Amino acid sequence: MARSAAGEWLSYGMSVGRPSLRNRLGRLYPSLFAPLHFHLSRVELRRLLANEFSSTGLWRTTCAYRGFGWFADISAWQIESEYCELVEWVARQRPRVILEIGTAKGATLLAWSRIASELVASVDLPGGIHGGGYSPVKEKLFREFVTDRPGVEMLIFRGDSHDSTLCDRVKAVLGGRTIDFLFIDGDHTYAGVSRDFELWTPLVTPGGHVAFHDIVPHRELKDCQVDHFWREVKAGHPNFEIIADQQQGWAGIGVLELSGLHP
Ligand SMILES: C[S@@+](CC[C@H](N)C(=O)[O-])C[C@H]1O[C@@H](n2cnc3c(N)ncnc32)[C@H](O)[C@@H]1O
Repeated sequence: MARSAAGEWLSYGMSVGRPSLRNRLGRLYPSLFAPLHFHLSRVELRRLLANEFSSTGLWRTTCAYRGFGWFADISAWQIESEYCELVEWVARQRPRVILEIGTAKGATLLAWSRIASELVASVDLPGGIHGGGYSPVKEKLFREFVTDRPGVEMLIFRGDSHDSTLCDRVKAVLGGRTIDFLFIDGDHTYAGVSRDFELWTPLVTPGGHVAFHDIVPHRELKDCQVDHFWREVKAGHPNFEIIADQQQGWAGIGVLELSGLHP
């Protein structure tokens, strides 16, 4: 492997925050082995993705995938039946452009990557609440989600979805295209989810859709307040809910149609 490539992997590993010497040494191991880990993880991903597309196939991929080092895991923060129902519904809409807020380990990004016909974008804040994002190295694995889909572009943003300059950057990259399906699954506070809705829905295609994760009142996390916002916002738009069990105490997905009426 060329020296410059090794340097790239090492700098990835060292670029996460300002770690102590002990942490830096701890990160040296996955940095040194990152090229091998990436290769093995890519083989594993390709093996699983070789199966025909289906929502259950994608769910099984997120569960069965066993990567290495920084690429170890693409598991979901979702309930299986809700994930599958949403993925099937989104696929039926034939969206060209999908954007999600809240990448985490990449389980929902995997689904959007296999559905969007032109562009898939995902935003996550390093250290953000409810997950904390991912190591920058993992972006290389996420990009593998579309390598066998020529013509499908992937954009990965590591930043705060509440930051209007980030939204402006995304708008510039979209270059006049609009988002057919927006998935909001980032900061789950009332202020955070309402900010995401206000900031990003002007980029949604009139008649396009916005989905929110965690519309069921959360049994344990007080700062998970999507249910409050969902109760208000659904009153003004055609909508439907995907909830496996009303008593589950978390998750649940609400989908809104934007009908050209932006906030
Ligand atoms: C529940 S996880 C997303 C789960 C993922 N969609 C899935 O289903 O597997 C929430 C993610 O949102 C991110 N997040 C929190 N606040 C954010 C913000 N203000 N901007 C962008 N991402 C944020 C967290 O870092 C975390 O990775």
